[in-house]
Amino acid sequence: MNFEEAKQRIHFLSEEIRKHNYNYYALSNPTITDYQFDILLQELMQLERQFPALVEIDSPTQHVGGAITKEFRQVIHQYPMLSLGNTYSEDEIRDFETRIHKLLGDTVDYVCELKFDGVAIGITYRDGKLVMAVTRGDGIRGDDVTTNIRTIKSIPLKLRGTGFPDEFEIRGEIILPHSSFEKINERRLEEGEEPFANPRNAASGTIKMQNSAEVAKRNLDCFFYQLLGDNISFDSHYESLMKARSWGFRISQYSVRCQTIVDIFEYLKTAEKARNDLPFDIDGVVIKVNSRSQQEMLGFTAKSPRWAIAYKFKAEQATSRLLSVDFQVGRTGAVTPVANLQPVPLAGTIVKRATLHNADVIALLDVRIGDMVLVEKGGEIIPKIVGVDTGKRSPESKPLGFIQACPECGTTLIRTKGEAAWYCPNENGCPPQIKGKLEHFISRKAMNIDSLGEGKVELLYDKGLLHNVADLYDLSYNQLIGLEKKYPSTDEKKARTISFREKTVQNILQGIEESKQVPFDRVLYALGIRFVGETIAKKLAFHFLSLENLRHANFTDLTNVEEIGDKIAGSVCSFFTDPKTETLLKRLEEAGLKFHIHIVEISHKSEILSGLSFVVSGIFEKYSREDLKKTIEEHGGKNVSALSSKTSYLLAGSNMGPEKRKKAERERIPIISEEDFLKMLNEGKQT
Ligand code: IVH
Repeated sequence: MNFEEAKQRIHFLSEEIRKHNYNYYALSNPTITDYQFDILLQELMQLERQFPALVEIDSPTQHVGGAITKEFRQVIHQYPMLSLGNTYSEDEIRDFETRIHKLLGDTVDYVCELKFDGVAIGITYRDGKLVMAVTRGDGIRGDDVTTNIRTIKSIPLKLRGTGFPDEFEIRGEIILPHSSFEKINERRLEEGEEPFANPRNAASGTIKMQNSAEVAKRNLDCFFYQLLGDNISFDSHYESLMKARSWGFRISQYSVRCQTIVDIFEYLKTAEKARNDLPFDIDGVVIKVNSRSQQEMLGFTAKSPRWAIAYKFKAEQATSRLLSVDFQVGRTGAVTPVANLQPVPLAGTIVKRATLHNADVIALLDVRIGDMVLVEKGGEIIPKIVGVDTGKRSPESKPLGFIQACPECGTTLIRTKGEAAWYCPNENGCPPQIKGKLEHFISRKAMNIDSLGEGKVELLYDKGLLHNVADLYDLSYNQLIGLEKKYPSTDEKKARTISFREKTVQNILQGIEESKQVPFDRVLYALGIRFVGETIAKKLAFHFLSLENLRHANFTDLTNVEEIGDKIAGSVCSFFTDPKTETLLKRLEEAGLKFHIHIVEISHKSEILSGLSFVVSGIFEKYSREDLKKTIEEHGGKNVSALSSKTSYLLAGSNMGPEKRKKAERERIPIISEEDFLKMLNEGKQT
């Protein structure tokens, strides 16, 4: 076949495959078998291999992935990603409908939709081609996950038909079907890794993977539910959904029009019944006013549209007998009582264990061995016990006490006033605490050493090579190569052998080396200081700018920081006064970890803020207003003197006039602090 013939054949095959993707995903009505489809795809792949110059970026073969994303660039949403007002109560749905009728008069159409339990995504199309996909993030800024989203087969890379605006954004929910979720978790268990708690967590973990080829294998899917843009001319939401379907987007068959409250309730009932038969998770129903002009009339509150409401399903419950209670020690030393139950089916799985939370909950429920208990499954992997049927209790039963010594290391447990949990104070000598700290340290949001999963850390701990996180940086090739351990099967994990061969060892050492580039805020989070989660670590890092400053901060310095209360301040102080901390930090510093925030130097130019306009107003703590303005310009941003609907951000210091704040709120312009601004620069720098 010559070049010209190949070009024509590639064009024909691409269009043919697109048509079948459309039939399959958008219409749920395939007209050929999977086998026939694969033959077309194979032929196209073969031709593209032969004629690489003919591979188009939106060819249907491009769903296989391959590109690596090192860090996900942060992108500001053109339209903020708001949330929905939600309720568990049918009465509140009735109130919603009454309110809308009062405001709009009698003729209101609604669209009822499933509330997909996944990860929100906003995808921009330009000239019919997918150009960018961004996660929700904090609603203002999200992560650019385009490379990974392009691997999802039900998301068109190129649109079909006509009538789509030159540029628009479509929003939907990335979900992981149950069948794929189960496969992924089976594999994780075989490899000694912790399974994902639910399909939502698995979907969210998957879209943030660095290797898009891995994402492609996970079979993510996407349902779309909102069209946004300046040139959307459809009168109704339903019409926009139908149009989007005709362009190739997957719109749920369950998105239906309703006229009356009776129809709405009928829909709620049908959806709740259908829930257990659907091949993916939903957590409720969304009810939206259909007419776009009526939507505009109703507008938004600060957080959500007035024209929509989410009705959430209540958690599912079952009853079972309490057989015994185990006490588990976590990373922080907190001891959690876990109930062993007579196996009972609940929300699609067989439940054998459930959490009893803490000593207070045990006392409050007065739960006893042998009791019939009520188990509830929310979003977590471990269901919880929420009630006891005391009527069915045996007269011989005795109240359940709480253990006094750590079941792992025998140390006497302690309980701080005002806290619910009992703790094992043997932080540096209690095995699950040491392993937990190591696992936290290497986790994705901390040091992100993903070549070292939990199973491998356990092996290194068991072999005596890791006692604390600083030991990671002393590991050598010779210590690692050939290490092996067989783990017997347990209730949660299958039997497995972990062994370190050449490639594994290289990956581990490389991952450890690369972690030295992780920015200071994540290093701080990785240290696992009690109560210092990801957000607090960021706050502290950007406020104090270096570990040295943070170490010297006293209790009052800490509580003076926004959002830092007594509990966190106390925990940070006691972390730094512990003599073991000093040795540990010294070793980590010597290993080359980042112990201070690298503010983008003012002399260094970039395009991080390109396309953004700022109004800088008020008095700032760390930099002068002029310095901030100069920084904005040097990084591609624009300074404007007055707020308008086109302003991207109001960078606000203290003493800013109240009128400015009001105007920004009215125009929905995000108001950011000096700290947020530095964070923005810094995060942009890492991309
Ligand atoms: S409409 C202004 N429709 O629920 C918000 N959202 O709590 C417009 N979701 O962030 C969202 N299914 O991630 C809408 N059929 C549906 C949905 C849906 C799931 C999620 C979405 C959103 C969250 C709001």
